Amino acid sequence: MTLEQKLAQMSQYGTSYLMATAKDDVTGPARALGLNGEQVAAVGSTLGSAQAADVIAMQQNHLANDPNKIPLLFMRDVIHGYRTIYPIPLGMGATWDEGLVYDCCRMAAKEAAVSGIQVNFSPMVDLVRDCRWGRNMESTGEDPWYNSRMAAAMVKGYQGDDDLQGKYDIAACVKHFAAYGAAESGRDYNTTDMSEHTLREYYLPAYRAAVDAGVEMVMTSFNALNGIPCAGNSRLAADILRNEWGFDGVVISDWNSFHEMVNHGYAANDRDAAEKAIQAVTDIEMMSTCYLRYMRALIEEGKVSEEQIDQAVLRILRLKEKLGMFENPLRATSVEEEAKYCLCEEHRALARRAAEQAAVLLKNDGVLPLSENIGSIAVIGPFAACGMNGWWSCQGKTDESVSVAAGLRAALPQATITVAAGCTDGLHDPLDPAMLEAALDMARASESVVLCLGEQEGWSGEGNSRADVGLPAAQKELLRRVAAVNPRTVVLLFNGRPLALGDVIDAAPAFFTMWQPGTEGGSAAANLLLGRVNFSGHLTMSFPYHVGQAPIYYNSMRTGRPKPGDDSTMGYVSRYVDCPNAPLFPFGYGLSYTDFTYGRPTLSATQIKRGESLTLSLTVKNTGKMAGSTVVQLYIHDPVASLVRPVREMRDYARVTLGAGEEKEVQFKIDEAMLAFYTAEGRYEAEPGCFRVWAAPDAASGEALSFTLL
Ligand code: GLC
Repeated sequence: MTLEQKLAQMSQYGTSYLMATAKDDVTGPARALGLNGEQVAAVGSTLGSAQAADVIAMQQNHLANDPNKIPLLFMRDVIHGYRTIYPIPLGMGATWDEGLVYDCCRMAAKEAAVSGIQVNFSPMVDLVRDCRWGRNMESTGEDPWYNSRMAAAMVKGYQGDDDLQGKYDIAACVKHFAAYGAAESGRDYNTTDMSEHTLREYYLPAYRAAVDAGVEMVMTSFNALNGIPCAGNSRLAADILRNEWGFDGVVISDWNSFHEMVNHGYAANDRDAAEKAIQAVTDIEMMSTCYLRYMRALIEEGKVSEEQIDQAVLRILRLKEKLGMFENPLRATSVEEEAKYCLCEEHRALARRAAEQAAVLLKNDGVLPLSENIGSIAVIGPFAACGMNGWWSCQGKTDESVSVAAGLRAALPQATITVAAGCTDGLHDPLDPAMLEAALDMARASESVVLCLGEQEGWSGEGNSRADVGLPAAQKELLRRVAAVNPRTVVLLFNGRPLALGDVIDAAPAFFTMWQPGTEGGSAAANLLLGRVNFSGHLTMSFPYHVGQAPIYYNSMRTGRPKPGDDSTMGYVSRYVDCPNAPLFPFGYGLSYTDFTYGRPTLSATQIKRGESLTLSLTVKNTGKMAGSTVVQLYIHDPVASLVRPVREMRDYARVTLGAGEEKEVQFKIDEAMLAFYTAEGRYEAEPGCFRVWAAPDAASGEALSFTLL
């Protein structure tokens, strides 16, 4: 391979660039990037949307033009489903069901593979603590240990259990390395700055879990971390990722982030950026041309060795080889199977189950479930009659997704289901009096109201942070007025982040969130509203009273002046004069149609030596009239340590399903590894002393027990 061909192998452009460019006719976007025909012909991979037929044509054209006959890799963001869309990852996190997450990723991989995708830019495992950030929707939440479990389940779901040997396995790419979710002010792409301890203790674990699960690719992130853009941060990508963790797969930059080192003020120009990127051992440059344009000069000046280039190309070729692309450049791509599997009933059924399990019941003063014999329901709100897939729903189409109105009509053919928007769906739209009156008339005339409120898909996702995370004013007024005329009003929220509900939670007797539930959202909503399925979702990100509490997360520190309980009269303690400290709904929270009682927990020992373990036991009972699932969460706290420690940290959980009246003993093994952290000396170990432990249904409840590590 010539140096230019090697550099083209290390470059990635949008599928639209390749489709618009024949070898000797560089037109459109490729020309805008300054590419010539040879470069486009030799490019190593492409990203973006294409159908199976397009992929087949592009691969054949590519192999006809590439002198080295190296197959093109097709990559895409299949974040929560390819064509059959399941809930956004913040919703999938709320299922607390790693098996379900795995199954959904298997389904997404199959649909993507037959449509011509071989690499998936997922899982996104960025820790999130700020409800303002738009990409909360892509994360599984604020707990590093739980995100690590989810990361592993997703990597295995995409890549299969046999090292990509399965026909429908696709390579996974963990992102965004690193700490992208710590964007200051919750504003996307903003600065991230933290101690080495915070980075290692909270922000790195989930990426490490993906690497340990065998992820094939890592994507670096847009943000500067401690003053160095991650696209050229050799401390992160070379020292930690490759040398300390032993990752020897492919590292890819995020979109144009090489060039953005110039915007950050870290690179003087694209040539400087190219040098910084290759020293950070980044193999593929996404959507910029720094390597192509400047690497030859950097090699001739002795700043970069061709050996470094060869190593990068080798990692890329090894991935293609692992995927069997040299023998079969199309892998699983098939027009017939694309039509057969995408959106098939089996996949819809799985998406429906995921949407049901992701939903979290936040409040229910007895108006739910609705009766199967109900005669009339008014479905009101700007999101009453539309599908809700989410900002990043790949090939999913809104008109292929079931709306709440359609779901209820299908579930209750005998009932009168009426629909009114009540208000428009803009963020700052005024409330239209005529729309409001029409909705109020409908609410008055119906036995119950399902009010579909929350966020448009475009208010979260990349580049879509919000300074206020409450409901828009028009929706709040609609909620108040509808609930005033019909006390049996249920609020169904669609949201891509935690919402601040402190000023509306008292306005209606029931609230639940479905996040952005995807293809089967409306049918899942109907099953939940009618009690055909019980709620079992639990939050993995705290919901604040008010956005002013952001960032708010459960595993926070105590401070020197902790506020005792909720006594807001005390002055000189850490508090707000106008808002509680605690979230409205804490991490781990979720109600059910049935009731669960947690018996008094017991410990098998009150002290352990290093290397020993003890067992926490408790009995959980379903004291209600309906079968249901609860999630028992195990939390620990180290009250005295060489560094201050979070008030609670989850270290295990158990999803427990019980019939009405049934009870079960739940046990957790507590061992030294659960107590370890990066100490003041930087060693990862448990320090001797007293520990507190809870087994609870959320991060704000439960009875603490204590034991000592000798
Ligand atoms: C975007 C995102 C990243 C995605 C990439 C390719 O800017 O930050 O998550 O994988 O571009 O679409």
